[in-house]
Amino acid sequence: MKKMEDKILAEGEILSGGVLKVGSFLNQQIDTVFMKEIGEEIASLYKDDEITKILTIEASGIPIAVSAGFAMNLPVVYAKKNKSSNISGDVYSTVVQSFTHGNKNNVIVNKEFISPDDRILIVDDFLAHGSALTGLIEIVEMAGATVVGCVAAIEKGFQMGGDRLREKGYRIESLAIIEEMDDTEIVFREQ
Ligand code: G4P
Repeated sequence: MKKMEDKILAEGEILSGGVLKVGSFLNQQIDTVFMKEIGEEIASLYKDDEITKILTIEASGIPIAVSAGFAMNLPVVYAKKNKSSNISGDVYSTVVQSFTHGNKNNVIVNKEFISPDDRILIVDDFLAHGSALTGLIEIVEMAGATVVGCVAAIEKGFQMGGDRLREKGYRIESLAIIEEMDDTEIVFREQ
């Protein structure tokens, strides 16, 4: 999505440790007009795939998933992060390690919200090392549902999570893929 690349170039801020700050349009402050276009772009990628539900993870995945949900007329489920190790039997849960934040969270979804006949599209804001998407895929597969594909708004290709999931056979699409990034330059992957 050319407009995602343009937004990153115009408003993104490169921080140390390979972190891109996009607080002005995707995290914290949300550019709602652009968010609507993101939802429409995701809907067009999956228009023929008979998706029944969109799954994301709190917090920053939610606006993107909701925008795609509006565009596709579909419900959105978001996984919650839970620090407690006391997990009830009513939920699917897995552990997600965040390399960026250096912490671990139990990620949980109530069993009533995913059923075996669901065809799920997973959506998130960033795809870096792939831990969050891997955790969400595990949850869908625990429920016996189908992972049709995953969309990230921004993939950091140099952190390899997207390519590792593609090698495993998952359909992974990102609206912009950053191949390289340093203090002076951002290079996008041709798609
Ligand atoms: P991974 O899930 O792909 O392995 O990514 P990683 O563990 O490295 O990142 C974990 C969190 O950091 C995620 O947010 C992810 O969206 C965010 N993140 C990763 N790289 C960047 C980046 O370059 N810029 C920004 N702004 N965020 C990044 P989270 O823990 O789920 O938090 P939330 O923001 O959704 O609440």
